[in-house]
Amino acid sequence: MYKAKAYSAASATSPLASTTITRRDPTPHDVQIEILYCGICHSDLHQVRNEWSGFLPTVYPCIPGHEIVGRVTKVGSAVTKFAPGDIAAVGCMVDSDGTCPECKAGLEQFCPNVTYTYNLPDKHLGGVTYGGYSESLVVDQRFVLRVPANLNLAAAAPLLCAGITTYSPMRHWRVTSGQKVGVVGLGGLGHMAVKFAHALGAHVVVFSTSPKKKEDALRLGADEVVISRNVDEMQKHAGRFDFILDAVSAEHDIGAYINLLRRDGNITLVGAPEKPLSVPAFALLPRRCSLSGSPIGGIPETQEMLDFCGKHNITADVEVIPIQKVNEAYERLLKSDVKYRFSIDMASLKSA
Ligand SMILES: NC(=O)c1ccc[n+]([C@@H]2O[C@H](COP(=O)([O-])OP(=O)(O)OC[C@H]3O[C@@H](n4cnc5c(N)ncnc54)[C@H](OP(=O)(O)O)[C@@H]3O)[C@@H](O)[C@H]2O)c1
Ligand SMILES: [Zn+2]
Ligand SMILES: [Zn+2]
Repeated sequence: MYKAKAYSAASATSPLASTTITRRDPTPHDVQIEILYCGICHSDLHQVRNEWSGFLPTVYPCIPGHEIVGRVTKVGSAVTKFAPGDIAAVGCMVDSDGTCPECKAGLEQFCPNVTYTYNLPDKHLGGVTYGGYSESLVVDQRFVLRVPANLNLAAAAPLLCAGITTYSPMRHWRVTSGQKVGVVGLGGLGHMAVKFAHALGAHVVVFSTSPKKKEDALRLGADEVVISRNVDEMQKHAGRFDFILDAVSAEHDIGAYINLLRRDGNITLVGAPEKPLSVPAFALLPRRCSLSGSPIGGIPETQEMLDFCGKHNITADVEVIPIQKVNEAYERLLKSDVKYRFSIDMASLKSA
């Protein structure tokens, strides 16, 4: 075991602060990674503040971070995929049983024994796993991904959660050219969804509560932008959409978006608000619409997404910050004031 610097929250109401944690020495199958950049996902904030207490109560101290890009520093004797010096990435999962039907299908996100990158039991050290707001981490090579060489590393980090979480449902629901696709909420996930839907050839409409984001949405690849608080504007799009991705982090009227689906259209929820949403039956029924959810994506699909990003030169639009600004960044997330993902430069942790 060895010590590593990190940033942790001591309780649901404490700010994140500098600390020291213990990491395991690499086992034969492990890759040790010096973390260069870690994105800030709204899930980090939900988890730190224990907003998902009914589903996944937070164990403190909590060290979030699951959008990780770094450099390999050491590998175990059985590691074949990576060597010291390689660039490597880790997303929301660090382990699974590897034997269940979901794992065998490359859908580790559905494994009953999946280990998330933070806040789930750590099979090696006891306690819970600690995430990417730290100097380094040690991960089984099965959960380590490759970043295409043409991508900027700070901007590639958010692909590991915001990227795969929006790419996976679009592939599942077969988003393709000629379709009309809506994206609700232009935050970290939403802005990636716009880039992917545009790259897949769809006609993309962004629904935002923030009038100031209109120009950005068009630049990111949207064909139209609707300010969702404007009921008349919303009404113009009723019954038109093949697919809508809802990436909103807070309570909102999902019925207003179901009304925009055409017959057999689907709305997929990737946002994970603290409180339940209310679904009006008469939004879903009349046009046989469906409402789904989708969690992250499996390891093979995450690599596929990274390779797709390499080919299409897609990364997140990031504001790179030092770790000392993480609490400020959380407050800005709550005000929808991020363009469009914070990426922490982990070199800043050295002076923490
Ligand atoms: N399913 C998964 O596997 C998965 C993975 C990662 C994250 N998530 C969840 O997805 C959600 C979004 O994450 P994120 O990192 O993209 O968050 P984010 O960057 O904070 O973006 C959320 C966006 O939602 C909109 N919004 C916020 N409050 C709103 C309100 N009260 N009413 C209407 N719209 C509002 C804002 O967009 P506008 O300004 O454009 O309105 C905001 O930019 C979070 O709940 C997160 O936990 C789920
Ligand atoms: Zn996330
Ligand atoms: Zn499994």
